[in-house]
Amino acid sequence: MLPHKSIEQRLQKAVSTVLPDADVSAVLVRPCPDPKFGDYQSNALMSLARARKLNPRQLASDVLARLDVLDLCEKSDIAGAGFLNFRLKPSVLGRTLEAAARGEELLFEAAAAPRTIVIDFSSPNVAKPMHVGHIRSTILGDSLARTFRLLGHRVITDNHIGDWGTQFGMLIVGWMYKNWSGESLDAEADPIGELEKVYKLVSAASQGDPIALDTLLPKLQPSMELTERFPEKDAILNLARRQLVQLQKGDGTNTGIWNELIRISKKQFETLYARLGVRFDHTYGESFYNSRLQQTVDDLMAKGIARESEGAKCVFSDGKAPPKEDPFLIQRDGEWQPNPQLIQKRDGGFNYATTDLATMAYRLEAWHPQEIVYVTDGRQQLHFQQLFAAFRRWHPGAAGQLKLAHVWFGSILGEDGRPLKTRSGENVKLSELLDEAEARAFKVVSEKSPELPEDQRREVARVVGLGAVKYADLLPNRQSDYVFSWAKMLALNGNTAPYLQYAYARIQSIFRKAGARAVPCEVMLSAPEEISLANHLLNFGLTLEAVAEEYRPNFLCNYLYELAGHFTRFYENCPVLKSDSATRDSRLLLCDLAAKCLKQGLNVLGIETLEQM
Ligand code: ARG
Repeated sequence: MLPHKSIEQRLQKAVSTVLPDADVSAVLVRPCPDPKFGDYQSNALMSLARARKLNPRQLASDVLARLDVLDLCEKSDIAGAGFLNFRLKPSVLGRTLEAAARGEELLFEAAAAPRTIVIDFSSPNVAKPMHVGHIRSTILGDSLARTFRLLGHRVITDNHIGDWGTQFGMLIVGWMYKNWSGESLDAEADPIGELEKVYKLVSAASQGDPIALDTLLPKLQPSMELTERFPEKDAILNLARRQLVQLQKGDGTNTGIWNELIRISKKQFETLYARLGVRFDHTYGESFYNSRLQQTVDDLMAKGIARESEGAKCVFSDGKAPPKEDPFLIQRDGEWQPNPQLIQKRDGGFNYATTDLATMAYRLEAWHPQEIVYVTDGRQQLHFQQLFAAFRRWHPGAAGQLKLAHVWFGSILGEDGRPLKTRSGENVKLSELLDEAEARAFKVVSEKSPELPEDQRREVARVVGLGAVKYADLLPNRQSDYVFSWAKMLALNGNTAPYLQYAYARIQSIFRKAGARAVPCEVMLSAPEEISLANHLLNFGLTLEAVAEEYRPNFLCNYLYELAGHFTRFYENCPVLKSDSATRDSRLLLCDLAAKCLKQGLNVLGIETLEQM
């Protein structure tokens, strides 16, 4: 058991003895914010004292009197208003590292109670190129999935692609136009890009754009029942509507086209996911739930959770939550007014919310998860608040055991502080962004290591370029917008992926140059830099747990950055290869553990490492 866990368990026991009625599950032992005062700290006694109107320092001293940690700690004392600080014995640190080196878990413990966790992420829309906006969901979601898996949870990843909706009317018209023009989308180098262009053309024509109409009409005429009554733009709009209705009715031709559109899109998504090293257990998509939508609405109506309003069906507030916390209320003109969630339109059509309700019910039934996590941008906050609240009313029993989380994030900004766009004002395509990352990394690598053969430099550039983009996305607090800066993310000094990847490779080169290996040995810690490094290594597991708890991979980024700093200070101050053999072995083991931790940590972030750069 990791030492902080042992201290925590004993502390909880001591608290129980002093306060038999206290809930000790919140009595935690965490790294001390200021290492001057100790390695670990507990601040739990202060709130326990406050709740009981006790003097916190008195409570702390009563608890300390019953706490025996002499075998683990050099020192344990009370500080400030009633903090408990603990300083580990170097020998305990050493023993823990020896166990980690023996291949017992690398400084983290698997969850005592593994959970089934569904992660819904990436989820792009079919027939549109994946752009830079999808990158955050994909990268964040993937690193959360990896963290949960490493901690021993059962993770199910589901890519909820947007493969159904009103856009398909226009898309089918676009497809028809291409066919009538004798052009096959499949022959196109970038079929999705082409499809997007065509979609824009149809949509412009339906709004009366004369150039678009001139392009489209001659080709589409044969398939349109043009009547005198319609101006031309309405003819296009009508055609699109008719195609949509046909698709929804299950018409063979349109279903065929729709399937083709999905096939082409999925192919493009797959290429990008393979490049990013991201995989999904399922890609059910919205269309998978079509057959469940009517029964979802019927059931919500029957249970009185939804009701009719102006011909549509909506979920309204049940008045149980305080207005401020009720997502079905909104403040307007100083008054709380209904803010219902639409689940069936007047024309009978279903929407995003209906599909999400049906999806949740399906996931619950199929996988019995304890937790469902959605990773999308911040603009969908209200949608998910309403969704979770509606679902809890719909499935009160099951939902009671279910943790629902909307993990939202801010935008990626250009250096001008506005949402990132290409020079011509288009969305930046993800594939082009990754190409550029690799090209820029290639330049950096070629400057730094001109002696490496070109194909090796290309491979380094791939790993560094992708790593840099991912890390730049994971490092900021996910809820704030961040400015996309090539110079910053590719810097070899600073809190970047390339810096950490080089730190890892440098440790490997120590072993290579010396022809040495880390071998099981006694870990002896004496120099302060050595003790700091060891202490930091011990917090790897706590960091992973914090990432999982708050869905914040940035905690791990910062941990790894600090780890690299501790390692550098250790390596500068503590001779490794020139020391006597016992010290040398002990220090080599420390090098090895630091490298393993860096590698495992980067892997959890979805970032590769190289043995040589
Ligand atoms: N396709 C949606 C979009 O691009 C994201 C879907 C997120 N997942 C969900 N279950 N609603 O905005």
